[in-house]
Amino acid sequence: MSSPTLIDNSITNNTIIWDKSSLPDKIQTFDEYKSLYTLSIEDPNRFWKMAAERLNWYHFPTKIKNTEFDYRTERGVDIKWFEDGIINVCYNCLDRHIEKDPNIANQIALIFEPDIPTDTHHHITYGELLCKVKKFANVLKKHGIKKGDRVTIYMPMVIEACIALLACARIGAIHSVVFGGFSSHSVAERISDCNGTIVITSDFGVRGGKCIPLKSKIDQALLMPECNTVKTVIVFQRYYGMENLKDDCVERRKTLEWVNGRDFWAHEELETVNDICEPEQMNAEDPLFILYTSGSTGKPKGILHTTGGYLTYVNLTFKYVFAYNPGEIYMCSADVGWITGHSYVVYGPLANQATTVVFEGIPTYPDVSRFWNIIDKHQINIFYTAPTAIRSLMAHNDSYVTKTNRQSLRLLGTVGEPINPEAWRWYCNVVGNGRCPIVDTWWQTETGGFMITPIPNAWELEAGSATLPFFGIQTQIFDEKTRKPLEIPDRGELCIRDSWPGQARSLYGNHKRFIDVYFKPYPGYYFSGDGCEIKKNGYHWITGRVDDVLVISGHNIGTAEVESALVQHVAVAEAAVVGYPDPIKNQGMYCFVTLKDNVLESDELRKELIKTVRDVIGAHVHPDIIHFAPNLPKTRSGKIMRRILRKIVEPDIHNLGDTSTLNDPTVVDELIRTSPRTKLT
Ligand code: WTA
Repeated sequence: MSSPTLIDNSITNNTIIWDKSSLPDKIQTFDEYKSLYTLSIEDPNRFWKMAAERLNWYHFPTKIKNTEFDYRTERGVDIKWFEDGIINVCYNCLDRHIEKDPNIANQIALIFEPDIPTDTHHHITYGELLCKVKKFANVLKKHGIKKGDRVTIYMPMVIEACIALLACARIGAIHSVVFGGFSSHSVAERISDCNGTIVITSDFGVRGGKCIPLKSKIDQALLMPECNTVKTVIVFQRYYGMENLKDDCVERRKTLEWVNGRDFWAHEELETVNDICEPEQMNAEDPLFILYTSGSTGKPKGILHTTGGYLTYVNLTFKYVFAYNPGEIYMCSADVGWITGHSYVVYGPLANQATTVVFEGIPTYPDVSRFWNIIDKHQINIFYTAPTAIRSLMAHNDSYVTKTNRQSLRLLGTVGEPINPEAWRWYCNVVGNGRCPIVDTWWQTETGGFMITPIPNAWELEAGSATLPFFGIQTQIFDEKTRKPLEIPDRGELCIRDSWPGQARSLYGNHKRFIDVYFKPYPGYYFSGDGCEIKKNGYHWITGRVDDVLVISGHNIGTAEVESALVQHVAVAEAAVVGYPDPIKNQGMYCFVTLKDNVLESDELRKELIKTVRDVIGAHVHPDIIHFAPNLPKTRSGKIMRRILRKIVEPDIHNLGDTSTLNDPTVVDELIRTSPRTKLT
């Protein structure tokens, strides 16, 4: 197959628009894609109506698309899909499969693979999952939780985390999952932003063979005055009902603190409820969840997703991009604390009646064969992970892969960062034995689901390219300086023209910031914050963030958040954080730190500062380089010139650009002389 020539105007030439009354089960040819893509752009109402028909509605929407992207209009940015539709997400993920075919009650919904491979793994069927979700929903109701209430979920990657999400969706409560690696301070910030009244957690989790405290972090968070809205904490027990716990786990449980009247064991509460719980009938535009993500400035943004559009979008993207066949076993290694866990561990797969693996552990424990062993153990057909994981595993001897079988694999996928062609080829040739297509999916917390992605076997792949836009997605690149749209082929800032059902509707409680961040930079467009090159054949190559957000090991982290953590240390006067290219983690974190007068530089202090950042934000955030800099390059008005700092650490010191506006240009020479990164040139 030769590379298809796309896209923009050329796609409409010689394309027969899809004229059937429903969507196909699979996209098998490039012509099929083109005809459906053209329909999705020219008649989004018809396309997305057919997509919505893949779900069961209490009331099928009569209005499909009603959106405005231009903040300059009287209406302003306003996004509504399926607005008079009535639906329940949990019903669509569980009940309806069983109602259609009672045998599905015995089909496995979730496979739990624990961190420690010798611990018991378990399978849970659609029937069992539904029963557990109903019961847990009743526990939430018993504690006064109702439609529209915010529920913070701070859990390890276990089945109970999925149950918590689905139980919220069942009763119309809005979940806000906070990744278990975040510190008590970060959890508190997220609880208070959404005024949550209840927290669901676990006594501890297990990762990399270690016991990780969770409940005690919640205890600390709830001591903070901004969290006094929380009245209830429901605590699951990791290893509930099992004997012979590891010593550190026993110790954790023994030392657990308990606030009577506030804290409740989930297993005890579950004893007190039955399994009758009708799903709440939700309007399509009722909120489903909030998920916090880092911004380039200020506090984290509470990305708000709603019900009908989100589910329609994750349902369709999962089906087409993984070309999912009934009965296949699917695994996504993401944690449910991130959007990938929401859309492609829980909602997308379950809405498609798939069998999905919930993996508690990490790729390198007990050794670097872990993923490949899991693939063999559960006979996984579709495997989806992050480039960081691939690069870190690729650094070891291939025999860790080749000693495993992996014949069950049919398709591989990646998400989270650009994948370099070398890692792509290794994944394809060594992991997939050259048999499996790779879907490199570009998307964001804000987009809800895949945006630019291959559809397997419908067109040719190129190592390192996310290829073409999904249905309904029109990409446009802009010149960063002139702010003008660019003709392809070219490279610029990536925007999306017009709305798609899966996109975030707002930032929780802050629609103005939503508009400022995503809609003001290029009026009439959604601004992604990423750079992208679009080649002549229409293929998209994401080049990485263009703002002050770092993407490290697939996690987003705002430089402003790290700076504000650093200045909390008594020794620090000022800090400026920038990223530099890292061959494994995508980016490394470089912190320029100006100490207060009379404070001495030392390695000890470096360690303390690293610890401060981890304590304030979370253990998954780790500065790589702390560079003590008595002075930072500043404009005459006192603004730090980050552009120059980025060039120094890249290092690209021969292209510093204009430094004439600096207050004291010699500062730059001094930083270049002392930076560990410039020694590389
Ligand atoms: C980056 C994760 C290149 C990108 C789903 C984006 C990618 C950010 C890819 C969103 C990809 C994600 N190729 N870069 N396939 N996928 N990114 O919100 O910079 O955690 O803006 O969502 O990850 O990260 P987030």
